Amino acid sequence: MADPVRLGVNIDHVATVRNARGGAHPDPVRAAREALAAGADGITAHLREDRRHITDADIAALSLLCAEAGKPLNLEMAVTEEMLAIALRHQPHAACLVPERREEVTTEGGLAVAGHDARIGPVVKALAEAGIRVSLFIEPSLEQVQAAAEVGAQVVEFHTGRYCHLSGDARTAEFERLRDAARRAADLGLEVHAGHGLDYVTAADMLAIAEVRELNIGHFLIGEAVFVGLTAAIHRMRAAMDAAR
Ligand code: PXP
Repeated sequence: MADPVRLGVNIDHVATVRNARGGAHPDPVRAAREALAAGADGITAHLREDRRHITDADIAALSLLCAEAGKPLNLEMAVTEEMLAIALRHQPHAACLVPERREEVTTEGGLAVAGHDARIGPVVKALAEAGIRVSLFIEPSLEQVQAAAEVGAQVVEFHTGRYCHLSGDARTAEFERLRDAARRAADLGLEVHAGHGLDYVTAADMLAIAEVRELNIGHFLIGEAVFVGLTAAIHRMRAAMDAAR
């Protein structure tokens, strides 16, 4: 039997709540520790250019925690010189390159790789040469998958936000787009991840795509944690994923 699909837990929104009052509580590092103890396969954190949730100090502490726990840290980052320097300093297991706009509430849409290889290629190369696994957060389009392979990424993470918002025939069509893009990515030797907006149901839906090896989930799990606690929310997500495959 194939290995279970990995669950990466994104703890950004613990920092969002902390920063609302400017203090130290709730601590995203404590959340990461609890997530790993509950069975998360890794921790994902997005250090945004405006530092609206995760801070540089959080990344330093999360790097230590993950190293001690022997679990991967997946650093989401914009394609900038500043973020590249930070990634090279902390050496996370993986870096996921995302588009970033200051006015957006969350990461809207995937990274435009096609046609931007001159900007993205050198960052992918520098990260890969440092032994950091490079993932590109893209729309599930064949064009972007092709471009991701050409630029030298090892992983593509498909933006599932559209899928999660759609319903009926439009959702079915988006699922087919995700499935076709996943097949093409695997054919090109890319590992396939998925994330954004996933809940217990849509996470399970993604596991119907055989090529998907990892889900990265944040907002829903942190929101659920308010009602059932983080450990229970992660256990329930794990159970939903295991039941789906
Ligand atoms: N994957 C990537 C690349 C993201 O940018 C995000 C959001 O930060 C997620 C996964 C998690 O999305 P959500 O918080 O909606 O579960």
